[in-house]
Amino acid sequence: MTNPSLLILPGDGIGPEVMAEVRRVIDWFGAKRGINFDVSEDLVGGCAYDMHGVPLHDDTMAKAQEVDAVLLGAVGGPQYDNLDFSVKPERGLLRLRKEMDLYANLRPAQCFDALADFSSLKKDVVAGLDIMIVRELTSGVYFGEPRGIFEEGNERVGINTQRYTESEIDRVARSAFELAMRRGKKLCSMEKANVMESGVLWREVVTRVGADYPEVELSHMYADAGAMQLTRWPKQFDVIVTDNLFGDLLSDLAAMLTGSLGMLPSASLGAPMANGRPKALYEPVHGSAPDIAGQGKANPIACILSFAMALRYSFDMGDEATRVEQAVEAVLADGVRTADLLGQEGVQPVSTTQMGDAVLAKLD
Ligand code: NAI
Ligand code: MG
Repeated sequence: MTNPSLLILPGDGIGPEVMAEVRRVIDWFGAKRGINFDVSEDLVGGCAYDMHGVPLHDDTMAKAQEVDAVLLGAVGGPQYDNLDFSVKPERGLLRLRKEMDLYANLRPAQCFDALADFSSLKKDVVAGLDIMIVRELTSGVYFGEPRGIFEEGNERVGINTQRYTESEIDRVARSAFELAMRRGKKLCSMEKANVMESGVLWREVVTRVGADYPEVELSHMYADAGAMQLTRWPKQFDVIVTDNLFGDLLSDLAAMLTGSLGMLPSASLGAPMANGRPKALYEPVHGSAPDIAGQGKANPIACILSFAMALRYSFDMGDEATRVEQAVEAVLADGVRTADLLGQEGVQPVSTTQMGDAVLAKLD
């Protein structure tokens, strides 16, 4: 049997720093568990531009299409801000998402008990929270035509179009139901079917897909009410599926219920490949953090938890994923904190590498 393959794209800024800690976790699985990955590493973002004049080389793109999963750090930085739009670091990431056709963006919002005080909400509202938002990522109002700023009479009009085909709704709904089956078997679909025809179709198609998943308890909610419920009592949810625009807002909202950007992983999944695994890109939610890059201050947990998602969703290694998550939980319970997680007085922050050391020690 061949080893599962992983393409690692550390990227810019703190990307390489946090990815170095993930490499140690990957090595731990090889040395201590006999679980080996075929890992290759390449450039994306500003560093790829520096080397090749483009933020993603065609060879890297081709490699990404072949591997079982891609793990990305972060791209961008102030030194690239004045580049032409077509070669900006972000374009490398966008090309990956587009050409791999990653239509389901998974954003967990999980509250580690040790960080419950960190939330802007009351501790009992967030303690133990574990929800997953599935955002449609490749269609909707960010892509629909017509779009633009047009002259109309004696003024201008700005137009964007919310557009969803049945098949686009169907495939992201299926991803969400599959996920719900592996979790709490509860799915809430959010749209604005009260005022948008695209929402009416969304609700109809999600309901139809639901017939294939009788074990999953499906509910529907208007997205504005969903935003209220997410802040009022988020633990009522398990998996939420929604469109690109509402998902953009709701996933950011849900993420911040639980604390720091340095803690938040994500996955973007596409259609199943020949081996049955979905096309997949895993990355922390945060960016390249130029303000702390090169100082050894970055929190590697978001990137480590992104690898845990890869274990679970690409490699069917749910137990191993849980093991990584529990190691992180234990480290936090011990009071180990990178600078971004400091709330209390008198706690000394640890470095990126020390946080990695702590996670590895707990894995042992
Ligand atoms: P950012 O996420 O890089 O940083 C926001 C704030 O959070 C900063 O104060 C940073 O120090 C802190 N932070 C982020 N990740 C952290 C971590 N792991 N540990 C500790 N602190 C952390 O967002 P910002 O500053 O808006 O963007 C910086 C650059 O990153 C820009 O060039 C932007 O375009 C790019 N970016 C890239 C993304 C990606 O690669 N997916 C996503 C967001 C931004
Ligand atoms: Mg957003």
